[in-house]
Amino acid sequence: MNALIDALFTHGYYIWDDFLSEHEVAELRDCLPDTWKKARIGRNEETVRAASIRSDKIHWLSPAMGEPVQAYLDKMERIRLAANQHFFLGLFEYEAHFAKYERGDFYQKHLDSFKGNENRRLTTVFYMNEEWHEADQGELVIYDLNDQRIEKVAPKAGRLLVFFSEQFPHEVLPTQAERYSIAGWFRVNGVQGNQLDIAR
Ligand code: OGA
Ligand code: MN
Repeated sequence: MNALIDALFTHGYYIWDDFLSEHEVAELRDCLPDTWKKARIGRNEETVRAASIRSDKIHWLSPAMGEPVQAYLDKMERIRLAANQHFFLGLFEYEAHFAKYERGDFYQKHLDSFKGNENRRLTTVFYMNEEWHEADQGELVIYDLNDQRIEKVAPKAGRLLVFFSEQFPHEVLPTQAERYSIAGWFRVNGVQGNQLDIAR
């Protein structure tokens, strides 16, 4: 946890290798759902427009999906508390989805915090691809706010990426092999319109 906090402080992002063991990744993979939905952009966006921007399919996490998912969410809770303690972020809740990218799927360069999702402060992406090879591609490319490319992250099993949502545009390069991840966001509580924006 210290390495994560230090890296967030210094660089704004952290690549946490072996965040979960091979065995734990396998257990999480066993919780992957049978049904997937076309990913949307924002909360109310039509899927049609989204399809040109991202082509992955998603399924939102819930503790009912099994003990490994609960354990994952517990680990995220520990990160939430540590981040709040060190950065006074007031992170309030966590939302996350499994994402499935089939061959050819991609997600164009974007920020995770935008209108409709402006309460996202800290992003996590966890990878579940046991035998990832360079030829599989589907790397996550991270940019800074000046559009300078700063990292190309291979979606290797067990790896967790954490970054400040408002500071790093990123994209998923087209994958050549089936690719699984868990994308998640710590959010602050906010007011939208004149309605308190409570947990989904
Ligand atoms: C996202 C995202 C990255 C990935 O869902 O917002 O950027 O590598 N995902 O799955
Ligand atoms: Mn993203």
